[in-house]
Amino acid sequence: MDYCLFEGKIVPVEEANLNVRTNSIHYGTAVFEGIRAYWNQEEGQLYILFAMEHYKRLIGNAKKLFMEVKYSPEELIEITKEILRRSQVKEDVYIRPLVYFKDLKLTPKLVGYETEVCIYLYRFGRYLDTSKGVRVKVSSWVRNSENAIPSSLKVCGAYVNSALAKTEAILSGYDEAIMLNDKGFVAEGSGENVFLIKGGKAITPSVNQGILPGITRSAVIKLLREELKVEVEERAVARSELYEADELFFTGTAAEITPILEVDNRKVGCGKVGEITKRLQEIFFKIVRGKQRRYKKWLTPVY
Ligand SMILES: Cc1ncc(COP(=O)(O)O)c(C=O)c1O
Repeated sequence: MDYCLFEGKIVPVEEANLNVRTNSIHYGTAVFEGIRAYWNQEEGQLYILFAMEHYKRLIGNAKKLFMEVKYSPEELIEITKEILRRSQVKEDVYIRPLVYFKDLKLTPKLVGYETEVCIYLYRFGRYLDTSKGVRVKVSSWVRNSENAIPSSLKVCGAYVNSALAKTEAILSGYDEAIMLNDKGFVAEGSGENVFLIKGGKAITPSVNQGILPGITRSAVIKLLREELKVEVEERAVARSELYEADELFFTGTAAEITPILEVDNRKVGCGKVGEITKRLQEIFFKIVRGKQRRYKKWLTPVY
């Protein structure tokens, strides 16, 4: 049975039910995180990836919405470990913390409400096909602009933008969308950052391009530079650059490192998973299961 944090207690997830009048449900005024934990079969160990980074981002985002989280990042990590242990997780799992207003009052505002935190487990495997890769479409939906809903804010309401783009892509026969920002430059996927490889160099939209500055994105930049000795440029990226790229891939907690094999019906490179993408995946999937001593600091052991 899976356990979760709900109203200050760790309880079976079936007992964690919200009142239909809960304020945040009505206005999307809740912030969330997606965290992964990876199971290492040989060691009998479960590792949470970037636990501290995710909880710091969650608390930072809550602050932007006048939400006071009553736990420190360290306490949230301890609670998460306890949930994983009680749920006896012995497989890869996704962890979903959510900070919301629990008040049963209507009015779309951010002050005068009580903040609550829940954390639950979501047992899904791969989110996108990391081995075969995906086909993507540049969306007709534009990424939320910075002065509408800041893209660094992982707030539930903002994901209507992602849902519109993802749905358009799926219904048009693709796996995922890439959204442009309000200036017409490449921003990101519906829940992923995007990287291009061109002439042996990596390029990714910079943080002022309407993207969520992904935790995986930062890790991948480091791995490209330090492990693969690949130069990384962070800058504005034109849509047409996607069509000329030798390799393309998504990064994200859910998406991990997902190769993009086709964009707007054009093959990326020769239409197969590229060399740099492959090497990056190899090292990444070793690191997350604790198989690279140098990167153990990215992990929090559970057992
Ligand atoms: C819109 C968006 N972009 C990028 C990402 C990737 O961020 P991270 O690597 O921190 O999971 C996510 C997922 O959190 C996302 O929702």
